[in-house]
Amino acid sequence: MKVASIVGARPQFVKAAPVCRTLRERHEETLVHSGQHYDHEMSDVFFEQLGIPQPDFNLAVGSGGHGRQTGEMLGMLEELLMELAPDVVMVYGDTNTTLAGALAAAKLTIPVAHVEAGLRSFNRAMPEEINRIVTDHVSDLLLCPTQVAVDHLCSEGITEGVALVGDVMLDTARLFAERIDAAEVLAHYGLEAGGFYLATIHRASTSDSPELLGSVVSAYAALDRPVVWAIHPRTRKNLEATGLYQDVEAAGSIVPVPPLSYMDTVALLRSSAGLLTDSGGMQKEAYFFGVPCVTLREETEWTETVELGWNTLVGTDRERIIAGVSGMRRPEERPAVYGDGHAAEAIVRELESRFGGGEGMDE
Ligand code: UD1
Repeated sequence: MKVASIVGARPQFVKAAPVCRTLRERHEETLVHSGQHYDHEMSDVFFEQLGIPQPDFNLAVGSGGHGRQTGEMLGMLEELLMELAPDVVMVYGDTNTTLAGALAAAKLTIPVAHVEAGLRSFNRAMPEEINRIVTDHVSDLLLCPTQVAVDHLCSEGITEGVALVGDVMLDTARLFAERIDAAEVLAHYGLEAGGFYLATIHRASTSDSPELLGSVVSAYAALDRPVVWAIHPRTRKNLEATGLYQDVEAAGSIVPVPPLSYMDTVALLRSSAGLLTDSGGMQKEAYFFGVPCVTLREETEWTETVELGWNTLVGTDRERIIAGVSGMRRPEERPAVYGDGHAAEAIVRELESRFGGGEGMDE
């Protein structure tokens, strides 16, 4: 098979790493980087650490409004895909890169395989929700991480080409977590295991609102342990522009750090007393490693983590964040709702059965 894989934003590098590795054992892959994320710490470091091959093409789209960013990628991807003429195009997750890749391929009648299909927050104010819905509805192969995702697709009338393969982020965790020397990372940041919380915030809805961002800063400053805050470039710009960064520095208990590499993220997450985040992927990673999570959103795509008691939705209200953290607990049960960490193999088998001969496992 000739496969064109399209990535461009940080979470996609984490998801693509195990799939690229398995795919290249027996097929030809062209890797396209849209350039949506371009800073070393948002992009290159993931390729280096996770052994992802260098992209064959980098479209260098950079930052911009949603329409412009997506539109520019769409035009460039269309030209490239016409030239490459792959048997299938792989897209990951829910970013503007995912949407552009799926649309470009679908309009050229090239089959689209969507990794992490079927997720829904049911909040259409999130750009990612629009990206997911459109991508799923133009995809030919919908690779779902959970049964909940399969059910969402079914309720939207999508039952053909749906496969439950498990979560690729668990593959990445399985492949790389044991290589991590947590003690070294803790020493680097001057931290003790269990003595701090790890935090991130990057959703536009929070980080573009001075009021909500202020509430988050104020909550982090009031917690009972230091908060190691890995600050996304967008959030940093907004903290600086609003003067809130001074509050972060003045808090004393907040330790602001740049966006972390995969290895450092996992090392700190595993050693933390809990995670505070609005990231989708990190809610799951906390679950993989048995770390309690407080999610600074009103809804989540990863409902299993909430139902099983490992994750609490608190929104961005200061008091709810503080109460959520003090109520953090580690339930006894942590069932394998995200599969067995071999999703990449299942994904490649699905691709082979549909586009290259072999056996599939249709739902
Ligand atoms: C994007 C995805 C989101 C994903 C997140 C992970 C969309 C709609 N959103 O959000 O689903 O969870 O990535 O990080 O695709 N910036 C830099 N350097 C970079 C990248 C971004 O400084 O390397 C800054 C720019 O100022 C840019 C802003 O971050 O304007 C937002 O970047 P963008 O790619 O639009 O979205 P994210 O917020 O990163």
